[in-house]
Amino acid sequence: MPSSTSPAVSLSGKRILLIISGGIAAYKSLDLIRRLRERGASVRPVMTAGAQAFVTPLAVGALSADKVFTELFSREDEQDVGHIRLARECDLVLVAPATANIMAKMAQGMTDDLASTILLATDRPVLLAPAMNPKMWSHPATRRNRDTLAGDGIAFVGPGLGEMAESGERGEGRMAEPLQIVAAVESCLEGSQPLAAPTTLPLSGRHAIVTSGPTHEPIDPVRYIANRSSGRQGHAIAAALARLGANVTLVSGPVTIADPAGVTVVPVQTAVEMRDAVLAALPADAAVMVAAVADWRVADVSGGKIKKAPGEAPPPLQLTENPDILKTVGHHAERPRIVVGFAAETDDPVANGRLKLARKGADIIVANDVSAGSGVAGGVMGGTRNRVTIIGRDGEETWPELDKEAVADRLAALIASRLA
Ligand code: C5P
Repeated sequence: MPSSTSPAVSLSGKRILLIISGGIAAYKSLDLIRRLRERGASVRPVMTAGAQAFVTPLAVGALSADKVFTELFSREDEQDVGHIRLARECDLVLVAPATANIMAKMAQGMTDDLASTILLATDRPVLLAPAMNPKMWSHPATRRNRDTLAGDGIAFVGPGLGEMAESGERGEGRMAEPLQIVAAVESCLEGSQPLAAPTTLPLSGRHAIVTSGPTHEPIDPVRYIANRSSGRQGHAIAAALARLGANVTLVSGPVTIADPAGVTVVPVQTAVEMRDAVLAALPADAAVMVAAVADWRVADVSGGKIKKAPGEAPPPLQLTENPDILKTVGHHAERPRIVVGFAAETDDPVANGRLKLARKGADIIVANDVSAGSGVAGGVMGGTRNRVTIIGRDGEETWPELDKEAVADRLAALIASRLA
């Protein structure tokens, strides 16, 4: 499936019961509803009294296209659906934001409102996206409750590091971003529970920009200059960073592989569009520039299809240099803390990678030999495996030949450790 702005319908037919409890992060639940629905899920909302102080049932109902349930002892609701049916007629119960209060009630099995009653009555998987002040999150009482809930099989996503909307305090407690929550919902429904442990993911609260794929530089309306990049390595890195909790913007040239889950994809065609999309996505904590950006573009793109005339010489193509996106980011006023570039070389990749590290202002260059004789089965460009050397300012390390996914996981872990 080609990269596009419309995400895959990965949650097609899934029924999510979304409990919104009272916290300022409730405003993000509106976007969360939209993200879940555009992936094919239906969202049935339940709001606590506290949640209604932050967002209105009218807005939640309009976005979910369903009735908003708020009362435990509402005659109308109980006759209509009933709290036991609400608790069971879904594939997953998602609590976002989950306040310290609702976690405490769940840990104690208390049922003093509709949300807590559903959470005790349900036999479905439950996923919590906690959101609270950092002091409340680190309080021993919340830690105890969190451990109890994890022991009960409740899954968690986040919270991440960040600034609190209301107090400006920094610390752990910020609700995971809607797309991270969507990725966690997908994992829970797949039966894999990578997020079941209540640990904060290493890149929670971090923003990473990744470029991937080739660029297409038009010659005329039907022809373009391109290269053999498949986007596999860049997309795998975006997915790996997202799995570690990062909020990832993937700026992708034209590719035929699927968009990774839980990542915001910005599709572009040309190097200039890619540069603009990357700069628009700043600030970020990390930038990983994997795209095989065309070095040159055609100076005067023809408005009409260039015709072949009998007896005439082929038209000359006047080229002009494209912006160097990695170099721009590496020297930018809002430079991310970690800037990673790739060096696809056919001659002496390590020596060339070293030169590139300095010239482009990068912290790490991932050098790979893309020559036909690189020894990697099937070739690196367009293939599924890669053998890379990680060149840092303080030395270099060659990894064994690995699947591109494994290279991505190792690189994401390295970025997380540098940012820690
Ligand atoms: O200079 P070279 O193209 O070999 O550098 C490769 C690295 O620079 C890759 O990380 C690639 O994504 C990045 N790059 C870029 N913009 C360009 C050319 C390369 O970001 N115009």
